[in-house]
Formats: sequence, structure tokens, C-alpha cells
Amino acid sequence: MSGDKEPEKHLLRHVTAQQLGQLKKKALEARELSYSPYSKFRVGCCILTKENKFVLGANVENASYGGAICAERCAAVKAVTGGMKEWLAIAISGDRMEDTISPCGICRQFIREFASGEFPVIMLNGDGSKTVVKPFEELLPLSFGPDSL
Ligand code: THU
Repeated sequence: MSGDKEPEKHLLRHVTAQQLGQLKKKALEARELSYSPYSKFRVGCCILTKENKFVLGANVENASYGGAICAERCAAVKAVTGGMKEWLAIAISGDRMEDTISPCGICRQFIREFASGEFPVIMLNGDGSKTVVKPFEELLPLSFGPDSL
């Protein structure tokens, strides 16, 4: 344990500095894949898998608004259907410059199927100048997952 002084370093101990740089860059770039004509709020996501693959996702909206799919679930479905169910970290970017984005409740539950505990969730603002890293369990405490059945 590295202690409370460097919580991010501890959370990111399975991720190299180079991988972290790539994760952030790709999460920011993934917003370009967004289809968000209704909200005009682009979200990008990048999952780093155990195989050292970077899987990108973006939000895809629908004229029937409730049909929108978030960037996180887009990336998660791509990773899983690409045969990559073990993940090292996830990075998410939104268009807001002021604040870092935070994954919605549905996405937290969806991610919980494949990640839990200290899995690092990297949250970015619009240009990556602000970064918040949290352990997944802090975003979804007392969660219900595959091990709960
Ligand atoms: N959105 C995401 O893609 N991820 C989140 O965690 C929050 C919200 C998308 C959904 C919708 O397309 C737009 O952002 C506005 O809510």
C-alpha cells in the first residue's frame, strides 16, 4: 500500500505511465465518435483491457431519447464482444471544461459486471487538464454484481 498520500498511484499500480497517457488521450479523442445531435453533449470513453488493448466508446443517441447509449456502455459492449472481459482501467471524458465527468448510474451498474473494488475510474474534463481517479467501489458502494447471485 502506498498510503493515503498517493491514492491515485496506488489505484493505478497496474497501469504504466504510458498506458495512462494513452487512456486519457484516447478517451478525449473518442468524443469525436459521438452521435449526440439531441443533447449536443459528447462523451468519450476508453477501456484498457488485460490484453493491453484500448477499446473506445462514445455516446450514441436516438430520436426516441430514452434509447440513448452512453459512451461507457458502448465501450464495455465492444470490449466484451471482442472477447476482452478483464479490464485494467476505464477513462471517461465529457465536453465540460469546468468539471470532470462522472459515469451515470446505469453505466456504473453495467461496469460492475466486469469490474469492482479498486478498479480505477479515470474521469476527465473537456481538455484533460482536470483528472479525478476513484476506485470503482467508491462510485457504487454496496453493489450488486455477479457474485451476489
Ligand atoms: N452520457 C454518457 O455517455 N455517459 C455518462 O456517464 C453520462 C451521460 C451521455 C448520454 C447522453 O447522450 C448525453 O451524455 C447527455 O446525457
